Amino acid sequence: MNLENDEATRAWNTVLFDKFVRFQYLLTTGLARHSELMLARRPPPPGARVLDIGCGFGDTTQLLAQAVGRGGEAVGVDVAQNFVDAASREAEKAGASRARFFRADVQVDDLRGPYAAAYARFGTMFFASPVAALRNVKRALVPGGNLAIVVWRKREDNAWLYAAEQRVRALLPEIPASDEPTCGPGPFSMSGADLLSDQLLAAGFHEIAFERHDVEICIGRSLEEAIDFSMALGPAGELIRLAGAVGLEQASSISAALRDALAIYEGPKGVFAPSSTWLISARS
Ligand SMILES: C[S@@+](CC[C@H](N)C(=O)[O-])C[C@H]1O[C@@H](n2cnc3c(N)ncnc32)[C@H](O)[C@@H]1O
Repeated sequence: MNLENDEATRAWNTVLFDKFVRFQYLLTTGLARHSELMLARRPPPPGARVLDIGCGFGDTTQLLAQAVGRGGEAVGVDVAQNFVDAASREAEKAGASRARFFRADVQVDDLRGPYAAAYARFGTMFFASPVAALRNVKRALVPGGNLAIVVWRKREDNAWLYAAEQRVRALLPEIPASDEPTCGPGPFSMSGADLLSDQLLAAGFHEIAFERHDVEICIGRSLEEAIDFSMALGPAGELIRLAGAVGLEQASSISAALRDALAIYEGPKGVFAPSSTWLISARS
């Protein structure tokens, strides 16, 4: 048995799952702006069997299932059983009969290929060994099968996350050691095109292409919600969680600092912040 992702699995299946449920609306509608480009640029072949890596609530899996159409199938995998159960429930509710889900650690488990194509929206940045995980994905693809993944670009171009992280770091300069599980390498671990393209090559992919995508996303329907979202998730939320009691003690100062950092994005329709991702495609 491979234990490398055990800690991250625990985090995703418990505390992070609960937080994702709380902010499901923002995560699925806001983040969808980035997967829209992925599906437009790399639509799945009609009638194909395709994989969605780290599927979360499975909303991308459902879109893939719709796109493959009759005779096709979209399979969502996630390391956290709670996400797999939630994704299965959501798909059933939506009548997405061509979407299926099962629990798998993408780094080590049998992904039940072959697939004509594999996709991921923010689902590949948390593996302890990214090359091993990408190699396992390649193994599940047919020869020549396409990989299309969306990952965050650098922090500075995702200022809503980075400014929040900096404000929290200033207020929590020393975070005591904690037994809380962490999420793995983290949301920006694949932001460097040089490193990621080397990892893809090492995993056996070729024809690697990066497209930068800059778009405003909704980070809160109100400023209050944007502050709550930042205090719960992303690098700022993780710092607060790992700080435990110290984080709680500072909650009102942190909330005030985040209000100051995020107010510039507030508009009549909610809080919309610039964000930037890579859409990477590669061939197996
Ligand atoms: C940031 S979420 C993205 C979820 C979804 N793709 C979305 O865009 O809403 C990352 C997802 O990757 C999953 N994940 C993390 N490590 C994984 C692994 N080793 N194997 C499979 N899934 C993993 C997490 O459980 C989580 O659902």
